[in-house]
Amino acid sequence: MSATSTPFNGECDFVAAAATLDRIPPESLPEVAFAGRSNVGKSSLINALTNRKALARTSHTPGRTQQLNFFTIQERFLLVDMPGYGYAKVSKTTRKSWDDLIKQYLRGRVSLKCVFLLVDSRHGLKESDREMMKMLDETAVAYRIILTKADKLKPPQKIKIIEQLKGDLKKHPAAFPEPLLCSSHKQEGLNDIQDVILSVI
Ligand code: GTP
Ligand code: MG
Repeated sequence: MSATSTPFNGECDFVAAAATLDRIPPESLPEVAFAGRSNVGKSSLINALTNRKALARTSHTPGRTQQLNFFTIQERFLLVDMPGYGYAKVSKTTRKSWDDLIKQYLRGRVSLKCVFLLVDSRHGLKESDREMMKMLDETAVAYRIILTKADKLKPPQKIKIIEQLKGDLKKHPAAFPEPLLCSSHKQEGLNDIQDVILSVI
């Protein structure tokens, strides 16, 4: 696909932010969601994919995204930026309300075509990622792992983490067997992710 014809270069707009289930917009266009631990690079990836600097708000400090944020791409499909999980520094009550929101959103939303589960390529799967994968397996939501911050790895380390993950993914029925690898900062792997999005919506 040529750079000019991709919808990712077209109009994209913020549609809604939802901190509670009743604020989630009704199902309409197909959507894909970006989930993962706090600080893994979800919002940065949405900006990189859409070639915007600050469509989604990012931060060095974990816990930046505190609501489900919906963005429309050329009024054809939606990208959903999610609050991160696994962030210890917020209060237990806040933590629980984010976790409940994430779970309630992910369950039973027909317009949700795929969840991208972002994992820091330096760290691999953490316990909280495994819990999320279990939940997605149980609710049969199709998901695909994206390894982030690939600019921090040398080529042999990239091969190693991908092979490790492939072994893990065999045990997860709702997971796509091949992880993707990207760097939002170095703009690596973005075309592949865009192609995957266009193929699932
Ligand atoms: P929460 O909203 O808190 O859940 O975080 P998030 O997953 O949205 O992460 P965010 O995009 O805000 O990025 C967190 C930090 O990681 C920021 O300091 C980013 O600059 C950094 N970061 C994001 N993508 C990359 C990348 O590709 N490479 C490197 N080296 N750093 C990155
Ligand atoms: Mg974020």
